[in-house]
Amino acid sequence: MTDAPTAAPPAPRPYSPGLEGVVAGETSLGYVDGEHGRLLYRGYRIGDLVEHGSYPAVANLLWTGDWDARHRLPTAPVPAPVLTVLRALPRDAKPMDALRTAVSAWGATQQLPWPPTVEQARAITAFAPSALAAFARLRAGEEPVEPDPGLDLVEGFLYQLKGVRPDAGTARALDAYFIVGAEHGFNASTFTARVVTSTRSDIASAVAAAIGTMKGPLHGGAPSEVVDQLAQVGSADRAEAWVRETLDKGDRLMGFGHRVYRAYDPRAAALRKVAEGMEHRPDWLQLAIDVEDVALRVLAEKHPERALKTNVEYYAAPVLMGVGLTPDLFPATFSLARHAGWTAHALEQAADNRLIRPDVNYVGPAERDLPA
Ligand code: ACO
Repeated sequence: MTDAPTAAPPAPRPYSPGLEGVVAGETSLGYVDGEHGRLLYRGYRIGDLVEHGSYPAVANLLWTGDWDARHRLPTAPVPAPVLTVLRALPRDAKPMDALRTAVSAWGATQQLPWPPTVEQARAITAFAPSALAAFARLRAGEEPVEPDPGLDLVEGFLYQLKGVRPDAGTARALDAYFIVGAEHGFNASTFTARVVTSTRSDIASAVAAAIGTMKGPLHGGAPSEVVDQLAQVGSADRAEAWVRETLDKGDRLMGFGHRVYRAYDPRAAALRKVAEGMEHRPDWLQLAIDVEDVALRVLAEKHPERALKTNVEYYAAPVLMGVGLTPDLFPATFSLARHAGWTAHALEQAADNRLIRPDVNYVGPAERDLPA
């Protein structure tokens, strides 16, 4: 037996809580330029992609690097065992829990060898909207609707959700939301998907873990809270008083501020345009625009040291409400959109894989003997 070492653990190395500012990888997928309010997917500006692209074309761009504006991706059927699982869930289950469960069950019905492929990415991205739509119908006591292969992904999702084909403007508006939600650098859920992929686990496991990560309120977004706050404001003439009262109480204005963006979030700009062009826009859109003007002015006055601008969630709210989604479906719909990014990151991770396994500083007791 050798003597127990008595040396103290080495001095802790620098640690950044939340890994803020730590570079944990390299990507050629999305570029988030917070300083200048730019978001690029493989070099293309988000505003141009929203104007000229579709979600399937953008997903394909992320997966393959090729731009084909006519690329199509219909939704895919829900396999029978997954439907059985969805039917067994309580009706009041959270849509994020239902989606995560469906993706996990789907993985059990597929052959998904490592490394992940573009075909696997397409398959899971095409399956997930059908699963969420099926759950939404089942909890309302309605039967799921089979995919219509003649419809593209977002149109197909709305059709399977409502049982009727959406009008072109509605489908286009939600498609724009899907495009801006598709990819956003090393956010928590994307990083999770890469960690899972780095272990050589399969793409369904990576996406299920990513959904679980996005479920947390710090990540999953605030558009339903934007709707609540606008309801509290009520009318434009109350906006200034309401904003000041809210900030004086120390509460946050939902849909403002961002960890990375110091300039106006380019996704918010794109979605504002979409919301303004919608035929079925909610009647409170004008109120949202008026409140935004006041909020930006008062935030600049109260926080001159920190640029607090509108973020994507602010104008996601009227778009999602306008296409007829209930607020409790907002986070899961965001997850559907992010499937393109998660799976593209899984492909990128696998193409040059190294197990992601960081170090940790040990701060517990020094080596000691068990009590007698
Ligand atoms: N309203 C009022 N004050 C704000 C807001 C806001 N929306 N955002 C930040 N601040 C203030 C904070 O009070 C803080 O000042 P203080 O230290 O004097 O209290 C300062 O700005 C810095 O705030 P942090 O929380 O450190 O900034 P961080 O970059 O970590 O936060 C976050 C980003 C979480 C998005 C924050 O701006 C926020 O809570 N916004 C409201 C919620 C929201 O809109 N979430 C959606 C984000 S977009 C997305 O997730 C896809």
